[in-house]
Amino acid sequence: MPADKPDILVTAPLPPFLYDPLKADYHCHDYHQTQDKAALLAAQGARIRGLVQGGGTMTPTSLLDALPKLELISVFGVGYDGVPVAYCKRRGIKVSNTPDVLTDDVADVALGLILMTGRGFVRANRFAQAGEWEKRGPELTTKLSGRKVGILGLGRIGKAIAQRVLAMGMKVSYTGRKPQQVPYEYVPDLEGLAAAVDFLVVACPGGDATRNIVDARVLAALGKKGTLINIARGSIVDEPALVAALKAGTIKSAGLDVFADEPHIPAELFAMDNVVVLPHVGSATRETRQAMGDLCKANLDAYFSGKGVLTLIPELR
Ligand code: 8YV
Repeated sequence: MPADKPDILVTAPLPPFLYDPLKADYHCHDYHQTQDKAALLAAQGARIRGLVQGGGTMTPTSLLDALPKLELISVFGVGYDGVPVAYCKRRGIKVSNTPDVLTDDVADVALGLILMTGRGFVRANRFAQAGEWEKRGPELTTKLSGRKVGILGLGRIGKAIAQRVLAMGMKVSYTGRKPQQVPYEYVPDLEGLAAAVDFLVVACPGGDATRNIVDARVLAALGKKGTLINIARGSIVDEPALVAALKAGTIKSAGLDVFADEPHIPAELFAMDNVVVLPHVGSATRETRQAMGDLCKANLDAYFSGKGVLTLIPELR
């Protein structure tokens, strides 16, 4: 625990199990809630030493310019695509995130989306609830064992997804920046991977390097046999191209936990019974959010008591 109480800026809504302990140990300034953000920065900006934000929070460099004493950004989430990392590196601002603790939950959601889309559970659920079963039998779907899953981004979460689908008898291949020492087939290009698989699962980081890489060409390669699953970031998929492909029936279905402009979901998707949409719930269990909150605060505590950051992002190591 830090000896003094450092001032920290909070730029995202935080759950009480994180915010209350933070308030006990830090002078918290609620930038997210405050009406007059400019006034808050003018009054407190010069004393802010830490910043807490969510995984999806976009932090502009103009905000950081107003915090000359900022030392650490502690992200409440694994994704830090909203943090201007190159800028932080230049200024010597440290950045931490919450890896590992949410891996299983996010992978579970990917598996759930594969099951829901692949076995047509949304359609079947609507059918049953509407009393249709009294009149006729449900439609047949497709066996999942033996189908191919292509993972875009074989990091911690991608690997946990691979384990789960392997347990169901599915086959795994992947693409990413480079091949890894894993027993799965590496496909160097995304379009080639999409062409080869039944489910294309997006599990890579967001940000400029991956913006819209799942585009119309990749979706065309995925084709009528293919389903797109996204549990990573909406920015990675060209959303209008995805909606167009689903409307035209040029891909089979989609299971989406993330969107380009959250919490906005393109309205066209609601009417499609081959599309499953979730409100970004990958890490949304009580246990995992608690663990993420604990790690988010532990990073601040360790740093401000001179022990260094616990989970510094790889780019700054
Ligand atoms: C959270 C996430 O919804 O970890 C991430 O990167 O996107 C999610 O787990 C978010 O970070 C909560 O702030």
